[in-house]
Amino acid sequence: MLSLNFSFSQRINHPRWRMSEIAAKTPLMMATSLGKKYLMALSGLFLVSFLPVHLAGNLLLFKNDGGAAFDAYSLFMSTSMIIRVLEVILVAGFLVHILDAAVLSLRNKSARPVGYKGGSGGKAKSFFSRYMGLTGSIILIYLVIHINSFTLKHRVYEAGNLAFYHTVKIAFETGWNGLYAWFYVLSMLLMAFHLNHGFASAFQSLGLNHKKYTPLIEKIGLLYSIVIPAGFAAIPVYFQLKFLRVF
Ligand code: HEM
Repeated sequence: MLSLNFSFSQRINHPRWRMSEIAAKTPLMMATSLGKKYLMALSGLFLVSFLPVHLAGNLLLFKNDGGAAFDAYSLFMSTSMIIRVLEVILVAGFLVHILDAAVLSLRNKSARPVGYKGGSGGKAKSFFSRYMGLTGSIILIYLVIHINSFTLKHRVYEAGNLAFYHTVKIAFETGWNGLYAWFYVLSMLLMAFHLNHGFASAFQSLGLNHKKYTPLIEKIGLLYSIVIPAGFAAIPVYFQLKFLRVF
């Protein structure tokens, strides 16, 4: 009978375990669907860490000081060298996540030319997981509009304009005749759907499944996917309601 008891030296010399072979296969692995899922999960979790930091800074908009604290924070964010370096990493994180998602969904489509009924994922998938591509694409459109109206406005179109609070206020009060604010709210609702599935599924893609911890990760994911988008959505709602003199 075949023995399954390998010694350590036998094991590291076995073709499956040889480090040089693993190293040689790593770029290949990243090009495979499994490698891409890993990268998508890692970049997704990295982006998950960015959102609370961005939200914390944006909460300064609620401070009743005419925007002084938010302007000081925004000035620091747009001039600090450390933040510049972090921004390059952030852009790379977004690009990896978006490109990987696009490649994976194209591959899935060509491997399964006849679409399933009721979305791209079949019956076994949850409501949220079926629409990851759709919600992700709308978040991408949101992001392009967002960067254009805030980051590019202050760094390119009106470089030197330091009135960040004023820009945000005007955008949420009268942008697109008031629809800009509600577009943010709708985008944050879709963001909640996207995060709801993405958070826990990232841990699964990384192979981190545990009887005890997976339900906890799912609960944290649910809480995160409600609190963070709700925090972002509260900002345009606040400016709109103030503008409409509701309070
Ligand atoms: C009400 C909600 C939000 C407000 C008021 C807001 C505000 C801002 C402002 C003022 C900037 C420009 C900062 C600068 O020029 O230095 C900015 C940049 C940015 N925002 Fe937002 N943001 C919001 C929501 C979001 C969300 C939900 C995301 C992610 C999907 C996001 C992602 C980014 C990114 C990637 C940048 C460019 C990087 C940076 O400048 O740090 N923002 N945001």
